[in-house]
Amino acid sequence: MAKLGALILLGASLAFLGQTFVAIRERFITSREVEPVEPQNCHLIEKLENGSEDIDILPTGLAFISSGLKYPGLPNFAPDEPGKIFLMNLNEQSSKAQALKISDRFDKELFNPHGISTFIDKDGTVYLYVVNHPHMESTVEIFKFEEHQRSLIHLKTVKHELLKSVNDIVVVGPEQFYATRDHYLDNFFLSLLEMILDLRWTYVVFYSPREVKVVAKGFNSANGITASLDQKYIYVADIAAKNIHIMEKHENWNLTQLKVIQLDTFMDNLNVDPSTGDILGGCHPNAMKLLNYNPKDPPGSEVLRIQNVLSDKPTVSTIYANNGSVLQGTSVAAVYHGKILIGTVFHKALYCVL
Ligand SMILES: *[C@@H]1O[C@H](CO)[C@@H](O)[C@H](O)[C@H]1NC(C)=O
Ligand SMILES: *[C@@H]1O[C@H](CO)[C@@H](O)[C@H](O)[C@H]1NC(C)=O
Ligand SMILES: *[C@@H]1O[C@H](CO)[C@@H](O)[C@H](O)[C@H]1NC(C)=O
Repeated sequence: MAKLGALILLGASLAFLGQTFVAIRERFITSREVEPVEPQNCHLIEKLENGSEDIDILPTGLAFISSGLKYPGLPNFAPDEPGKIFLMNLNEQSSKAQALKISDRFDKELFNPHGISTFIDKDGTVYLYVVNHPHMESTVEIFKFEEHQRSLIHLKTVKHELLKSVNDIVVVGPEQFYATRDHYLDNFFLSLLEMILDLRWTYVVFYSPREVKVVAKGFNSANGITASLDQKYIYVADIAAKNIHIMEKHENWNLTQLKVIQLDTFMDNLNVDPSTGDILGGCHPNAMKLLNYNPKDPPGSEVLRIQNVLSDKPTVSTIYANNGSVLQGTSVAAVYHGKILIGTVFHKALYCVL
């Protein structure tokens, strides 16, 4: 009997491994050829060579760019350099990126910026919220932006037990934001397995100083998050499930799911086109090449635009695609007055006229 039990267990384990292997193949290895799509006037941005993971553009045309992310399993070309926030003024003809100064009482050496989101209060003061991973933990740093000094004044560090493994945030009010948790297990290999096995343990958290709660669950790997122009909807990219969730936001900050738009690529960070409300997503067409980096066969880049998001038939189109010869591992895109900034997890950044 014991032998039979062992045999059944072995059979079950092999079946499980077989299934896992099929799941891995389907999700990560099957890679698509990337057909190039390039707007006419594009150039790489000087000084942004080692990552531009997230980008947020103010209505005035000032763009914030987070650079230098160190994240388990992903490449980083300058591992000894602390992360930085860059600023670009998209109204200028030859727009240059410049690293912002950060006020003293903040540990700049440990700065490891990930998702960012801006907030403008009633008086017009601009705040930048940054997901930070000092020692691979997760905090949300709140900075006040001083335009004349080109600096960020650190105001506050937000930490909470529900804010673990935070990937991205979207600020919806003073000290009020939604955050995505991209994996549940702390160990990198276990978190990868969590993704591959499609465990759907990750979630979206609402944070305010008075209340912190989980407002949406069941994501395989909740990643980019942003709000619609009218702030009535929240969009969440589930990167490993290759889809984007359209959520309705309620008075008590709860979210309910309206629909899921299925894609054929790993969508990372999201922004909304301020003139149309379309969603722009930076995407990874070949996830395996990103996780297993080889400069001779690099991961490609893709930017998708989703039009008529709330209609019955949203349309998805590719506005930028490259096989990695120009841009590797695109994580974000943002537009302003016919110009687009395209950022990457660890590589360069591109500026194009659409
Ligand atoms: C990016 O990293 C490489 C390798 O560490 C370094 O040589 C280069 O100067 C960095 N580029 C910038 C713009 O910081
Ligand atoms: C909304 O969130 C609260 C917790 O803040 C919870 O008690 C309630 O059941 C939720 N409502 C809905 C409709 O999901
Ligand atoms: C990428 O595309 C360029 C042309 O757009 C081509 O020259 C190059 O060989 C391609 N690289 C790979 C790795 O496929």
